[in-house]
Amino acid sequence: MAAQHPTEALEREHRSIEKVVKACYVTVEEIGGGGAVDQELLRQIVEFMRVYADKCHHGKEEALLFPELFKRGVPPTGCPISALTAEHIQGRRLVTGMADALERFRGGEPGAAEAVLENLRGITALYPNHIWKEDYLLFPMTLKVMDGEDLRDLGLKFEKVDQSIGAEALRGYEKFADGLEARWKARADKS
Ligand SMILES: [Fe+2]
Ligand SMILES: [Fe+2]
Repeated sequence: MAAQHPTEALEREHRSIEKVVKACYVTVEEIGGGGAVDQELLRQIVEFMRVYADKCHHGKEEALLFPELFKRGVPPTGCPISALTAEHIQGRRLVTGMADALERFRGGEPGAAEAVLENLRGITALYPNHIWKEDYLLFPMTLKVMDGEDLRDLGLKFEKVDQSIGAEALRGYEKFADGLEARWKARADKS
């Protein structure tokens, strides 16, 4: 079987992450409009962001793609890599903040719902721009500095990351993202 093309694989993962970020946006609107905090949905979003977006996707970018770019003269400091890395750190902080706020909400702590909202808003503000920078700047740059054989090797390394998480688990996260999109689209059609 041919190795996955690394930037195409990352772009495909972006499409799933975007669906979950959109769900965060809709959730902010709903809670802000007086709707209940759907704890199970938010728990699943936290898990998706931790495993699919961070461990799998950011993991491939930081541990495998960025070092290949550094070897080919892309500077590790400054634009664009240090900005992207800082955004990954910020994303982790927001997801941890949301998990903590959710825990406090479960415990009935006053102000916890507002903290959930604040972290959700942070996620919706961060990710669309981060993904845009990667789709339109990072990946085209990658294709300029890496050739066919290098890309194939990187694709094989990405497949090992996927295997370490499990193909079934990854498909489950992608289905979760698709399900959220279908849910919000059906709701939008009704309104
Ligand atoms: Fe990234
Ligand atoms: Fe990315």
